[in-house]
Amino acid sequence: MGAAVLTVTATLLLALPDRAPVGELPALARSHGIGLGVAVAVDPLARDGGYQDVVTSNYTSVTAENTMKWEYVQPERDEFDWSGPDAVVDFARRHGLGVRGHTLLWHNQQPPWLSEGTWTGTELREVMREHTDALLGRYRGRITTWDVINEPLVDDGPRLRDNLWHRVLGEDYIAEALRMAHEADPGARLYINEFGIEGAGPKADALHTLVTDLLDRGVPLHGIGFQGHFVHGSVPEDLTEQMRRYSDLGLDVTVSELDVRIPEPAGQEQLEEQAREYRRVVQACLDVPRCVNVTVWGVSDQHSWIPEWFPGYTAALPFDGSYRPKPALAGMAQALERRRTGTRPGRTTPRTPPGHRTRLKNSKGPGIREPRPASAERPATPPP
Ligand code: XIL
Repeated sequence: MGAAVLTVTATLLLALPDRAPVGELPALARSHGIGLGVAVAVDPLARDGGYQDVVTSNYTSVTAENTMKWEYVQPERDEFDWSGPDAVVDFARRHGLGVRGHTLLWHNQQPPWLSEGTWTGTELREVMREHTDALLGRYRGRITTWDVINEPLVDDGPRLRDNLWHRVLGEDYIAEALRMAHEADPGARLYINEFGIEGAGPKADALHTLVTDLLDRGVPLHGIGFQGHFVHGSVPEDLTEQMRRYSDLGLDVTVSELDVRIPEPAGQEQLEEQAREYRRVVQACLDVPRCVNVTVWGVSDQHSWIPEWFPGYTAALPFDGSYRPKPALAGMAQALERRRTGTRPGRTTPRTPPGHRTRLKNSKGPGIREPRPASAERPATPPP
């Protein structure tokens, strides 16, 4: 009986609004000083009005889903193609959206000349520097946040991934890449972006150890991206705690590639449960003092990478294939709405953990005293 009452109460508390909050999220997100982003593809961004409307009405920043990756930016050695990245950055500027830069060093989506080349350390460093200078240099002042290192750890374990950079340069490739990026754009916020670190475990701990070491050595690292590719029913309970560990080190954190994939078929019940999962993720960001942005990985279920990469899963995003808002959109709005009048925890308190002075020298200060615009939230400004 008692349990039944509890269940009913919990269900009521968790009930989602019927009204779809299309157009309401940007102001809500800004009221908390966080950005709400979406991964975009170049073609529909140029041509598809429905796609453009979803982006401009519901989000405050964009991430290029593919076009800033190495295989597109430098398909042949010393041949750069800026058409896609320029299109994304120009779209963002026209619509007052921020841009998260994604990504510099990754083991996937490398052009064959790079991945199949035989490199000495000196040559590979030269290649890294040219690419980094070109990409960060071109968008200096317009892209203020970069995923410099993407997925450095093996898929399901606590070891560094055996990628090209690691093989040729050794484990210090991460520090080298961050230093190069900092030289290319001293004003950019530099991130390590990873998956499988959203809940406690050996991989989460390995990243934390790696990051602590980088900070202790004064390497310019400013943020951690929690990719957040979740399976419906398994969003980790301790996401907030995992993100807070980095916030406590003086780093920004971002949920950088959020989606929640549902095993087919996805019925109404699953979509409503998924909405609670989206809400929980946005709430986690609000609960972490230095969480600056939540970005969903795609504009609609029609554009999501999930059906291709995870056959048998579907419906991972807040808009369906016809650009109709799903309960997940209401879930995100509800998290932002509910906290609007409250003080964001930790925002008024300097968070300088004792003994962490060295680490905090990488942050913008000893803590965040006032709400501030998130870095990826700053509208793109015209080139100098
Ligand atoms: C994915 C894109 O969504 C796909 O279109 C592409 O085919 C493969 O890459 N982690 C990342 C992203 O950092 O860049 C990946 O994006 C998804 C996993």
